[in-house]
Amino acid sequence: MTMSKSAAIILAAGLGTRMKSTMPKVMHALAGRPMVNHVIANLQEAGVTELVCVIGPDMPALEKAVAPHKTAVQVDRLGTGHAVLAAKSAMDGFDGSVLIAFGDTPLIAPETFSKMLTAAQDSDVVVLGFRPDDPAAYGRLVVDEDNHLQAIVEFKDATDEQRAINLCNSGVMCVKGQKLFGLLEQISNDNAAGEYYLTDIVALARKAGLDCSVVEGHEDELLGVNSRVELAKAEGLVQSQLRVRAMVNGATLMDPSSTHFSFDTVLGKDVVVEPNVFFGPGVRVGDNVLIKAFSHLEETTLGNGVVMGPYARLRPGADLKDNVKVGNFVEIKKALIEEGAKVNHLSYIGDARVGPNANIGAGTITCNYDGYFKYHTDIGAGAFIGSNTALVAPVKIGDNANVGAGSTISKDVEGGDLSLTRAPQKNFSGWADKFRARRTEEKSKK
Ligand code: UD1
Ligand code: CA
Repeated sequence: MTMSKSAAIILAAGLGTRMKSTMPKVMHALAGRPMVNHVIANLQEAGVTELVCVIGPDMPALEKAVAPHKTAVQVDRLGTGHAVLAAKSAMDGFDGSVLIAFGDTPLIAPETFSKMLTAAQDSDVVVLGFRPDDPAAYGRLVVDEDNHLQAIVEFKDATDEQRAINLCNSGVMCVKGQKLFGLLEQISNDNAAGEYYLTDIVALARKAGLDCSVVEGHEDELLGVNSRVELAKAEGLVQSQLRVRAMVNGATLMDPSSTHFSFDTVLGKDVVVEPNVFFGPGVRVGDNVLIKAFSHLEETTLGNGVVMGPYARLRPGADLKDNVKVGNFVEIKKALIEEGAKVNHLSYIGDARVGPNANIGAGTITCNYDGYFKYHTDIGAGAFIGSNTALVAPVKIGDNANVGAGSTISKDVEGGDLSLTRAPQKNFSGWADKFRARRTEEKSKK
C-alpha cells in the first residue's frame, strides 16, 4: 500500500513551569538528546516528511534544535487549538495527513504514528487514545456503538458520566490537511478553561459529517513530561528500550540496569559491557570489544577487538583502531590511537596521534595546552614511551623511537633513537645506613 505524504505539527510552546528551569521544557534531554528531537525522529521513522514545530517567543535554542525543520511562533498561549493554528502558514497548501503531536510526550513509538497514518486513509480525524490505570484529568473520548469517535470532552468540562469513561485522549491526532485549518477556525474558547481546545475539532468534524476514529496506544509511550520526576521516569523507560536494543543486536550487558546509553550508541557484535558504563552521545563500538567497569565514553569510535577500562575515560574525538588497549585511569581526547597501540595505565593523551603498536608507559602525559592554545603530539609506529613522561606539544616522536622513563620531551625525537632527559643518577655507598643510625640515637635521647 502506498501512503500519501504526511506532515506533522509538534506543539512545544509551553514554558514548562513545573520543570523549574530556564530552558524550554522540550529541550530537556532523554538519552542525550532533547525530548523534542525524540518526537521528530520517531515521526520521521513513521514516514513523516514535513515538520513544523510550534514554539513560544524567544526560544532560540529550541529553534536551533529543531532545524532544519520549520518553526512557528505562538505568541499568546491560548490553548492547543490556537497553537496548531500558529502553524497554518507554514503548512500552506499541504493536502496530505497531518499528525499533531506534543513535544513533551517523547516516547510514542514510530509504529504508533504509522498506525495512525494508516487509519487516516479511511478517516478524516484519527485520535490516539489509551486506557491509563488512573484516567485522572485526561480528556475523555466519547465513542458511539460503532466505535466511531463522537467527541473529546476535557476533564474540566466533563459530566460525571463522561468522567467514568476510561478511554482517554493522549493529545495526538491525525487530521486530513485540507480539513484541519477550516475546523480549527470554528473553535471557540467557551469552556471551563477559557482556552481554544484542539480537541473540539472532533465534535465539529462530526457535525460536518466527517468520520472520526480512535487508535489505541500503550500508557507507557504516552507518558507526558511536566516535571523532573516525570523526566526521570521517561529516561528510565528510554534506557530500558536502548538496553534491550543493544542486547538484541548482539551485545552482552553484564548488568543492564547500570549501563547508560545515548540515543545513538552503536555497539557491534560480541561486545561485552561490564557494570557501570556510561555512553554519552556519538559513540560507535566495533565487534569483539570489551568495555570494563566504570568507563565513560562520548563522541568516540572503537575499532574491533578493543579492550578498555576499568575506569577509562574516552572524550570527544577519541578514535581507537582495532585491537587497541586502554587501561585504568587513562583519559583520551581528540586523539587517533592506531591499531594495536597500548595506553594501559594512568595517562592523558590529548590532541595526538599514537602510531600502530606503540606502547605508552604508565603516567605519560601529553602536555597539549599552554593556557592559550592547543598543540599536537605525534607518536610514531612502534614507539616506546617510558613511564612518567611529559610530552610537551608540539612534539614528534619518530617510528620505533624510545623515550626513557621520567623524561620531559620538548624537542622532536628521530625514529629509532633513544631520548631521555633524566638527571644523571648518583649513588652514595652506605649513606642510608649511617643516616638511620644517627637519627635513631638522637630520637632515643629525647
Ligand atoms: C491535552 C488535551 C487532553 C489530553 C492531554 C493529554 C487539549 C485541549 N487537551 O490537555 O484532552 O488528555 O493533553 O496529555 O488539547 N501547548 C501549546 N500552546 C498552547 C497550549 C498548549 O504549545 O497554547 C502545548 C503544550 O506545551 C504541551 C501541549 O500543547 O506540549 C499540551 O498542552 P497542555 O496544556 O499540557 O494540555 P492538557 O491540558 O494536558
Ligand atoms: Ca499536559
